Amino acid sequence: MPGAVIVGAQWGDEGKGKATDLLGSRVDYVVKFNGGNNAGHTVVIGDQKFALHLLPSGILTPGCTPVIGNGVVVDLRVLFEELDGLAERGVDTSDLLVSNAAHIIAPYARTLDNVTERFLGKRKIGTTGRGIGPAYADKINRLGIRVGDLFDEALLRDKIEGALVAKNHLLVKVYNRRAIGVDEVADELLAYRDRLEPHVADTSLVLNNALDEGDTVLFEGGQATMLDVDHGTYPFVTSSSATAGGACTGSGVGPTRIDSVIGIAKAYTTRVGEGPMPTELHDQWGDRLRDVGHEFGTTTGRPRRCGWYDAVITRFASRINGLTDIVLTKLDVLTGIEEIPVCVNYEVDGVRYQDLPLDQAAFAAAKPVYESFPGWTEDISGCREFSDLPQAAQDYVKAVEELSDCRISTIGVGPGRDEVIQINDLLHAR
Ligand code: GDP
Ligand code: IMO
Ligand code: MG
Repeated sequence: MPGAVIVGAQWGDEGKGKATDLLGSRVDYVVKFNGGNNAGHTVVIGDQKFALHLLPSGILTPGCTPVIGNGVVVDLRVLFEELDGLAERGVDTSDLLVSNAAHIIAPYARTLDNVTERFLGKRKIGTTGRGIGPAYADKINRLGIRVGDLFDEALLRDKIEGALVAKNHLLVKVYNRRAIGVDEVADELLAYRDRLEPHVADTSLVLNNALDEGDTVLFEGGQATMLDVDHGTYPFVTSSSATAGGACTGSGVGPTRIDSVIGIAKAYTTRVGEGPMPTELHDQWGDRLRDVGHEFGTTTGRPRRCGWYDAVITRFASRINGLTDIVLTKLDVLTGIEEIPVCVNYEVDGVRYQDLPLDQAAFAAAKPVYESFPGWTEDISGCREFSDLPQAAQDYVKAVEELSDCRISTIGVGPGRDEVIQINDLLHAR
């Protein structure tokens, strides 16, 4: 059966972790294909809450093999902290596979992330400070350190030395920081080598063999469409391919093996960090969405910027990812709002835009054009069938579906594993 991809359809934190966990028991492999510990996925199972950053959410499902693909950047310290934390809570993580071609976030990448942001001043991106951008920059510059390099100490030291030449000039002469030594970096990385070794694999081979045998593979994207380095609100993006194409490059599995592409979208919109967000609310409605939706970052604890559902964005996500299904999460958060606006178009300097404006300045100036839908007051968290929802909630979902150019196959009505309405099966043949 199928290869399925999960991607964020907005600016992240849509509930990808919960969606992955929901499918976990039917899936043989869950692959993280991009990003690193900038991600934060909260999964609620019964009265237990798990916050995952680097590990794929499938790690919580017994029998499902979690895979960190070649497209991920790995902070080894964080990896083992997270594994230890899960072990303490009784989660078996021994099956984890890590690609030998995944890049390592070296300690200097974290340093550079933070000093760069400081020097950017008002132009800063508002990164998570985890070293993501500098690690991907080294990868593209061909100065990166890969997981496989840990097993050839001479090569590792040579690569670290090569990577540090220019960085130390920059750190000392521009940023007024101390130079970083080869040994301190090598020692820190090598300390993890023996623990990492049993997990390292040619994950592309493993996944392709699994698909040949009819296993189900779920590719779990970190971040989201609007944070994708190519298709997002550049430069206010992350540094990886967070859209569906990234699932292929980030795992070594070809596009012909993907059957469904599932976009996760909140019933409203949030964003963390800097950059344009046309439907952002600076009034009591924004505060209400933040309070009721508990919109505070899982990774940095920053309050998330909140606004109404932006259908221009989700239409774009449908197109860029070739979405087959949408999971609409957090519908319950809208309960009690009398009239719910949805952004259907933008207006820039008196001109209507059906699609995203091409240039950065126009997008930054985009004003949302809203259509409002009647709200509902009934508690919907116990609804398990679409027909259980109040008529106004059904109408809202139908309107959002039409405006987003993709069928809505699952609806989230609460944070718990069971708090969902399943309309169409998400794991389907093409
Ligand atoms: P991710 O990064 O996309 O995995 O999402 P996060 O975990 O960062 O943020 C989503 C938050 O919403 C988490 O705290 C989830 O527990 C919560 N959540 C997911 N689906 C729903 C839902 O349908 N209703 C409510 N109320 N909360 C949800
Ligand atoms: P999940 O997987 C929301 C944002 C940061 C910043 C920009 C670049 O939980 O949805 P980076 O540290 O990646 O260089 O920061 O991207 N960002 C996220 N926002 N959810 C995430 O992940 C994010 N990962 C990065 O806030 O604006
Ligand atoms: Mg998150």
